[in-house]
Amino acid sequence: PSGRVSLTVNGKRHTVTVDNRTSLLDLLREHLDLTGSKKGCNAGACGACTVLVDGRRVNSCLTLAIRLEGAEVTTIEGLADGDELHPLQQAFIEQDAFQCGYCTPGQIMSGVGCIQEGHTGSKDEIGEWMSGNICRCGCYVKIVRAVEQTAH
Ligand code: FES
Repeated sequence: PSGRVSLTVNGKRHTVTVDNRTSLLDLLREHLDLTGSKKGCNAGACGACTVLVDGRRVNSCLTLAIRLEGAEVTTIEGLADGDELHPLQQAFIEQDAFQCGYCTPGQIMSGVGCIQEGHTGSKDEIGEWMSGNICRCGCYVKIVRAVEQTAH
């Protein structure tokens, strides 16, 4: 079975017909051509697919698109303001907080959520609240530094 869903992605309204089992991640990547959100595990274990739904972090691979009627979704593509990077994007560059870059969109979206939720009191706290985002290159120290720099 399929259905229609209307949602806002990065400020733009979309109405799409999707199979009821379509994840938000597949909706973004395959229907809307927004391929910044990455498919790592497709099972909620890596965080590469992290986006914000109504300001809250979600694993988009575990979120059913059909359930998002009226939702506001923000992806990595919607963070910059024109040519101006979001402060956390800029901090990732300054802190050299990535190697291969595959997990970076999810790390940054999770970091934005972490900052908005106020879980940035210490490096340990940031590390704990970012623990759903795996980096196989092991850039955690620099990722935490970038979130800390942006939050303070
Ligand atoms: Fe969604 Fe890994 S792809 S958590």
